Amino acid sequence: MSSLALMRWLEGTPERYDAGMRALTLGRVAMLHAAVAEASVREPGDRVLEIGCGTGAVTQRLCARGARVTAIDQAPEMIEQAMARVRPSHAGPVTWLEQTASEIDRLPAGEFDAVVLSLCLSDMSPGERSWVLKRATERLAPGGRLIAADEVRAPAGWRRAAQVLWRIPQAAIGWLLVGSLSRPVPNLCDEIRATGLPIRSQTCWLLGSLQLVVAQRAA
Ligand SMILES: C[S@@+](CC[C@H](N)C(=O)[O-])C[C@H]1O[C@@H](n2cnc3c(N)ncnc32)[C@H](O)[C@@H]1O
Repeated sequence: MSSLALMRWLEGTPERYDAGMRALTLGRVAMLHAAVAEASVREPGDRVLEIGCGTGAVTQRLCARGARVTAIDQAPEMIEQAMARVRPSHAGPVTWLEQTASEIDRLPAGEFDAVVLSLCLSDMSPGERSWVLKRATERLAPGGRLIAADEVRAPAGWRRAAQVLWRIPQAAIGWLLVGSLSRPVPNLCDEIRATGLPIRSQTCWLLGSLQLVVAQRAA
């Protein structure tokens, strides 16, 4: 089976794709998604912009907390799977947009209580990341939160060495699953600080290589 055929097979249902994500994160992805949703919705009715929604694992959790979600992804097959996954169970309304993160400046500024980027910044080039983070910040209402979770470069020393070793099989699996290679974000906190938003909290898993950062616009 070619890697493209295998990728299509894996993308055939959210369960297969999600099983791949569980393998890539050694089972931590569900914990990460739950923490992202918890940090993103403070009360039912919150307006949340989710960039790179993938198969809707976070979208589903945001909806279950009563958020009004605008979910965007550049991949039509991901949007399709996310819609199928979220529709039967969700509580809050979702607006689905098939578009790239580089188009978020078309969305109204100052309108969202939270902007969520879960496991998608590492798919972007440094230039795109910086642009997207800046524009995402502008989409926040006063007091709104930016929630970014991703693979980051582990702290120097044995943890970095372990990450480099682990990434060899991980990169192979990732290529088979999604047909592209992500790269750890070198310093997620610094990249978020560069937008002018103060960091409120950061949580790490997997020897510091998986990080959740919450930043907040002044009220
Ligand atoms: C690894 S998946 C993560 C999905 C989901 N957010 C999660 O946490 O499980 C990354 C998703 O981001 C999307 N993505 C990556 N770069 C993007 C971009 N520049 N614009 C829009 N979507 C993007 C991909 O299509 C993919 O669905």
